[in-house]
Amino acid sequence: MPPQQVLGSVGPQALAIERLWWLTLIICTVVFLAVLAAVAWALFRAPRGDLTTPPDLSSLTRPERGAAISVVAGIALCALLLVVLTIASFSTDRALASLGAPSLEIEVTGHQFWWEVRYEDADPSRSFSTANEIHIPVGRPVLLKLKAEDVIHSLWVPNLAGKKDLIPGRDATLALRADKPGTYRGQCAEYCGAQHAKMAFLLIADPPEQYEAWAAAERKPAREPGEAEQRRGRDLFVNGRCGMCHAVQGTSAAARYGPDLTHFASRQTLAAGMLPNTVGHLAGWILDPQSIKPGANMPANPMPPAELHALLAYLGTLK
Ligand code: CUA
Repeated sequence: MPPQQVLGSVGPQALAIERLWWLTLIICTVVFLAVLAAVAWALFRAPRGDLTTPPDLSSLTRPERGAAISVVAGIALCALLLVVLTIASFSTDRALASLGAPSLEIEVTGHQFWWEVRYEDADPSRSFSTANEIHIPVGRPVLLKLKAEDVIHSLWVPNLAGKKDLIPGRDATLALRADKPGTYRGQCAEYCGAQHAKMAFLLIADPPEQYEAWAAAERKPAREPGEAEQRRGRDLFVNGRCGMCHAVQGTSAAARYGPDLTHFASRQTLAAGMLPNTVGHLAGWILDPQSIKPGANMPANPMPPAELHALLAYLGTLK
């Protein structure tokens, strides 16, 4: 599994949050230890007595200058530390909002329980869709436009940025930049139903030329399958149940209810980051998704082995 680390920032947004986290931890730890030390000292210096010792009420009439100074100093120090944390929090917020003009906008829509990822272009023929995998170029600011189709979700790639909610009917944005190539795991961070925990995705940051090559491949429609079995699988896909929910560009399957599968075989995972994308897992997922993600919207698809083989052969061509 690729990393999903709050303290492993690879971009300026996550770094700003990570710094704030360390500052808060250090200040709170020092305050906590100081309070414990004060309690220990108070216990240690408390006068000892037994049931027959008369109470010492002298402090009620005798002014305690030392105690008064300690209390005032303690309050002043706490107020000062809170001001420091407030300023740090404000400046972190400013840092998060100062990434600069995005070089790329990606529309991410949360569904129960997967991520639709749409790369819009002014020229519609250059727009394309994928799912559960967000590719971005390294070193360039990217703006994610967040939408939700059904309920509230939350997008979180801790290595790159903080969380942002996806709220139906209310679009949000999240700016981020990856400074190091790599694959980072992201997770839905807002309870959205039975399979909330199994709503993950991969964010893949590639050097710009590698990203452009990926995008160029994604823009192409699916290749015409070469072998007879693959073509049979394509016909089963398009005319059977698969095409009622999924799209494969270049065929008549154009539904947008489930993930776009045009280049499905080039994706690393199945079922929103849950399984490696291998033939065995794919067969299990097609036949009985409910045993892997109970409550997901994909129904079971029982079919004879020959049909399953043809379908798997076809899906394997969708590179
Ligand atoms: Cu989507 Cu939790």
